[in-house]
Amino acid sequence: MANGKVDALLGIVFGDEGKGKVVDYFTPRYDIVARFAGGPNAGHTIIFEGKKFVLRSIPSGIFDEGKINIIGNGCVIAPDLFMKEAHELEDAGYTITDRLHISRRAHLILPTHRVLDRAYEAAKGKNKVGTTGKGIGPTYSDKAARVGLRVGDILENFEEKYLKLKARHEQILRDLHYTDYDITEEEKTWLEGVEYMRKFHLTDTEIEINKALAEGKSVLAEGAQGSLLDIDHGTYPFVSSSSTTAGGVCTGLGIAPNKIDRVWGIFKAYSTRVGSGPFPVELFDETGAEIRRIGHEFGAVTGRDRRCGWVDLVALRYAIMINGVTDLVMMKGDVLDGFDTIKACVAYEKDGVVTTDMPYDTEGWNAVYEELPGWKTPLSDLRKEEDFPQTFKDYIAYLEEKAGCRISIVSVSPDREATIIR
Ligand code: IMP
Repeated sequence: MANGKVDALLGIVFGDEGKGKVVDYFTPRYDIVARFAGGPNAGHTIIFEGKKFVLRSIPSGIFDEGKINIIGNGCVIAPDLFMKEAHELEDAGYTITDRLHISRRAHLILPTHRVLDRAYEAAKGKNKVGTTGKGIGPTYSDKAARVGLRVGDILENFEEKYLKLKARHEQILRDLHYTDYDITEEEKTWLEGVEYMRKFHLTDTEIEINKALAEGKSVLAEGAQGSLLDIDHGTYPFVSSSSTTAGGVCTGLGIAPNKIDRVWGIFKAYSTRVGSGPFPVELFDETGAEIRRIGHEFGAVTGRDRRCGWVDLVALRYAIMINGVTDLVMMKGDVLDGFDTIKACVAYEKDGVVTTDMPYDTEGWNAVYEELPGWKTPLSDLRKEEDFPQTFKDYIAYLEEKAGCRISIVSVSPDREATIIR
């Protein structure tokens, strides 16, 4: 039997590309759906059989009864939030304990990691990252410092290990003079979550995945956040703390690079960013507000307003290169229906220097735009490419040419039938 392959589905800008919308199309084609990075900082909104779910740690294949879902070693997991998320699925009638396998190597987010997240942010003052407050950075810091707790730790002498790491965090918090917090209630639920997690298959998922691949099974590696939030390749230090790019698929699941076949890169017909950090295409005017309103651009995890702007081809080209994107997926074209002209950022400029490559320090760069005519036609009822207005077809062709990559899927409304394969 031929070896199976891994395809990756990645948000390639600042996250929130609307991946939840296309999983309907993707998940049925795979035997296993696996998350390889991040944790409950993600919020994948999925409408399934008329019900709305926001998945944070659990992969999107969970709605498909035949699928195995994996939370890989590259992820971090908060037992209390995981329990809440899992209960919502169980209450809706999904049986998940047999089909959700969690890597013993994934790291645990403690309640004190969340307090540390707030404390570090407070200490940064005006340079704060604008994190989701879920303890992501401190958990990955402990992983790199080799003091973190892993899922496998809950199976043996857990209390002792937990108290030791908690005491270490409390000491750091005292040193930071950040003592005004109370985790009593949170800790109770967190410990219940730890107990609850024992019901699941806590396994060596890298072995499971590689065995499945050897049997010819196929795997979808489901990304979280976006490429520009990657700890190495994003707009550091305004990034998340995991490897959100294609390289993270290998390290976060324990699979070799030559197992990766297609890399689907999801982007929106415009740009958004949540939290702080450079964003050269940001629009502070009425147009930005209009995109936010029409596109419902408010954070799924924190409810914050997303910053909005035109599509950024410097960022797209960079992400296509870093990830080896084979196919682009363009979301939310319909949000731009009403605009007379559409702009696309083709370069950045600072102090007379113009670059089309992503600069090391994205701070202080201005976007250089090209202008295209708007299509001024509602797209959301269209289901076939032939029916697209010519101006929208031209926009797609323009982006493909400038990005140097094919756009294989176009989505023009939240409706599941509005996912048009090209
Ligand atoms: P953290 O991941 O909570 O540490 O947040 C670091 C940065 O990543 C902040 O700017 C967050 O707003 C951003 N971020 C984290 N997760 C997501 C996501 O799923 N979508 C969009 N932005 C995110």
